[in-house]
Amino acid sequence: MNLGISVRKLTKTYRSTKRKYGVVPVSKRETKALKGIDFKVQRGEIVGLLGPNGAGKTTTIKILSTLVLPDSGEATVNGFNVVRQPTEARATIGVITGGERSIYHKLSGRENLIFFGRLYRLTRNEAKERADELLGLMGLQEKADIKCEDYSSGMKMKIVFARSLLHDPPTLLYDEPTLGLDPGFAREIRQLVRDKLRDKCILLTTHYMNEADFLCDRIDLLHEGQIVASGTPAELKRQTRDFDVLTLQIKGIVRVKPFKGIPGVSKVTVNSDASDATTVRVHVRDGAAVLRRFLDTVEAQGGKVLRFAFDEPTLDDVFIQKTGRRITNGVSAQ
Ligand SMILES: Nc1ncnc2c1ncn2[C@@H]1O[C@H](COP(=O)(O)OP(=O)(O)OP(=O)(O)O)[C@@H](O)[C@H]1O
Ligand SMILES: [Mg+2]
Repeated sequence: MNLGISVRKLTKTYRSTKRKYGVVPVSKRETKALKGIDFKVQRGEIVGLLGPNGAGKTTTIKILSTLVLPDSGEATVNGFNVVRQPTEARATIGVITGGERSIYHKLSGRENLIFFGRLYRLTRNEAKERADELLGLMGLQEKADIKCEDYSSGMKMKIVFARSLLHDPPTLLYDEPTLGLDPGFAREIRQLVRDKLRDKCILLTTHYMNEADFLCDRIDLLHEGQIVASGTPAELKRQTRDFDVLTLQIKGIVRVKPFKGIPGVSKVTVNSDASDATTVRVHVRDGAAVLRRFLDTVEAQGGKVLRFAFDEPTLDDVFIQKTGRRITNGVSAQ
């Protein structure tokens, strides 16, 4: 059996009709969510789909979980075609979509796990045993019999995680598993995925570059329905070797345009905060040679450089280089 996930030339266009008074069609809209993507995830591998809002991450996970039908192309999980063999495919996957909302808040953690275990056709005793085991894995034994509505977000997410493992599936599809969690819980969950689920085939989506960097063996950068780069985090970052990443922290507000006139500059992003401080991040060929020009440009605009540093490129820098946009908030780089 071909274990893992295989996706070939997958496309999906959403078609929606806008209606007047909820009945009369007035216009049709089409959104090309996936424009023919290819990737594979093998057993023992964690692969991240990383991209900004609307990139097509959730659509990919939903197609692989048999919740949405693709228009064309092929997707198989553990050898089962998700369109032609959805029942078989479903039996081999554990899914997280929609975060903590997908459990019953009026039931306790244990009751949720037993309930969902029964839906996976475990006997009552098997479901109880499995719930116990997973509550132990998540470190939730002591809170197991409290209603989930009294849990913190992180604890609810742990139950969602435990649920995805009830039937011990070989493949896990996780859509934004740490979205909105406080950093401590997010770290705990990442550690758990990395340490305890090593033998699984995991596809996860995220906005968080550090998460992808920490967790993933390989990353596919997704932008407007297309994969624009893929590789290990180190390989992706190596693609940025031909430029330096210079960060300037500035007191005062500065404009982007004067920086773009400096020789070798390819991308400039500027973030100003409410306290009148600005962070300028620049991609520049041989930054050290023109450093003085940056300092002068800031001073000429009445700003004061508080700090400057040549940083390691991040995955966001790779993404900016490929697409001109940032992953984090979709802000355009210039
Ligand atoms: N049910 C739907 N009907 C119409 N358009 C949709 C539907 N679901 C998604 N889309 C559109 O398809 C595109 C891809 O959406 P998708 O949810 O896959 O992106 P995403 O990468 O998961 O984004 P996010 O980071 O915001 O979760 C977007 O332009 C979105 O507006
Ligand atoms: Mg999404």
